[in-house]
Amino acid sequence: MDIRVQHQPNKAALAETYLLNAWYVGALSSEVGPEALFHRILLETSVLFYRKADGTAVALHDRCPHRFAPLHLGTRNGDQVVCKYHGLEFDCSGQCTHSPHGNGNIPKAALVRSFPVLERYGFIWVWMGEEPADESLLPDFGYLDDGPDTALGHTYLHVKCHYELISDNVMDLSHVDHLHGDFLCTKGTLSPLMAKVRETPRSVQARWDWTQRPASLLFSPYLPDPAGETQLFFDITWTPPANIQLSVGATQDKVNEPLGLHNTVGQYDLHTVTPETDGTTHYFFATRRNHLVDDAAHNEHMIQILHDTFQNEDGAMLEAVQAEMRTSDFFSLNPVLMSNDIAPVKVRRLLNKLKAAEAGD
Ligand code: FES
Ligand SMILES: [Fe+2]
Repeated sequence: MDIRVQHQPNKAALAETYLLNAWYVGALSSEVGPEALFHRILLETSVLFYRKADGTAVALHDRCPHRFAPLHLGTRNGDQVVCKYHGLEFDCSGQCTHSPHGNGNIPKAALVRSFPVLERYGFIWVWMGEEPADESLLPDFGYLDDGPDTALGHTYLHVKCHYELISDNVMDLSHVDHLHGDFLCTKGTLSPLMAKVRETPRSVQARWDWTQRPASLLFSPYLPDPAGETQLFFDITWTPPANIQLSVGATQDKVNEPLGLHNTVGQYDLHTVTPETDGTTHYFFATRRNHLVDDAAHNEHMIQILHDTFQNEDGAMLEAVQAEMRTSDFFSLNPVLMSNDIAPVKVRRLLNKLKAAEAGD
C-alpha cells in the first residue's frame, strides 16, 4: 500500500504551494449523481462530493474524524453520510449528528471539514481556503450557459504533470503549429507572431490574429471554401487560480473589425485545472460552439475529438516533459525562454504574486 500520499497535508506547506482562497473545479456536474458518494483528491486533500435530496452539491473532507475511514466508503441516510467503519453519521455541514456507541454521546471533535461549493457552467467549484468563500472571485463564464445543450460539451482528463505545465501549454499556443495533427494544426503560422499580451492585477490575456490556408479541420468544413484562405483569431484569458478561457474563430468574409465569436465560425472554451498532487492534475474542459448548434451527433463527435486531442497530443507531451523534469520547480532548471513564453511566464509570475499576497509575504 502506498502510504506516502496522506491526503491531509500540513496546512503551512499547502499554503506555500497553492493559492487556497480560490475556486477550483472539483468535478463535472455530471460526475456527481443524485445518490453518489463521489471522491477526488484536490490540492492533496481528499474531498467527498454528494448531492442533497434537493440536488444541491456538498463537499466534505473525505475522512471520518474517528479512525479516518474515507467517508465515500459509507452510505447515505437522506442528506447525511454514515461512516462505514463504526457508524458515526454526519450532516452536510460536517457536524456529527448520531453515534451508535455507548450512550450516544457525540464528542465535540466529531466534526468533518466542509468546503463551500458553487455549481456553475457544468462544474462543481470548491473553495479550498480558510477565508470566507468569495463568490465574486469566480469569473463570469456565462457564454457557456447561453444556448442549446447540443452545442455544449464538457470533459475531464487526468494528467501526470504539475498543473502549471498545463497553463503554460494553453497560454503559449505556438505549440499548436508543431504538436497538433490536422484537426487543430496551425501549420507554422503562429510561431513567427508575437502574441499581443495584456495584464491586469488578476488576469493575463493573449491574442493572436493570423491567416491560414486551409484552416484546420476544426473549422474548414464549415467555411464557404474549405480549402481557401481564412482569417482566424485566438483570444485567451487566464484568471486565478488556474482558469484559461479561450475563444477561437475563423472567417473568409472581409471583416473590417476585430474578429470575435460574433463574426466568425468559432467556439468558446474553458480550460481549468485543479492540482491533485504536486505531480498530477485534474484537467477540466468545457466548450460551446456558435455553429451547427442543434446537431447533437456533431456535438458528441466534437467533444470526443477534443478530448482525444488533449489526451494524446497535449497530455502525452506534458507527461513526458514532467517525467523528464523530475521536479515541479520549472525555473530551477534554467529553461531557455523565447518570445512565445511571454504570456506563460507572466501567468507564473502573477500566480506567485497572488500566492505571496495570500501568505502575507
Ligand atoms: S472511522 Fe468512522 S466511525 Fe469509526
Ligand atoms: Fe494543445
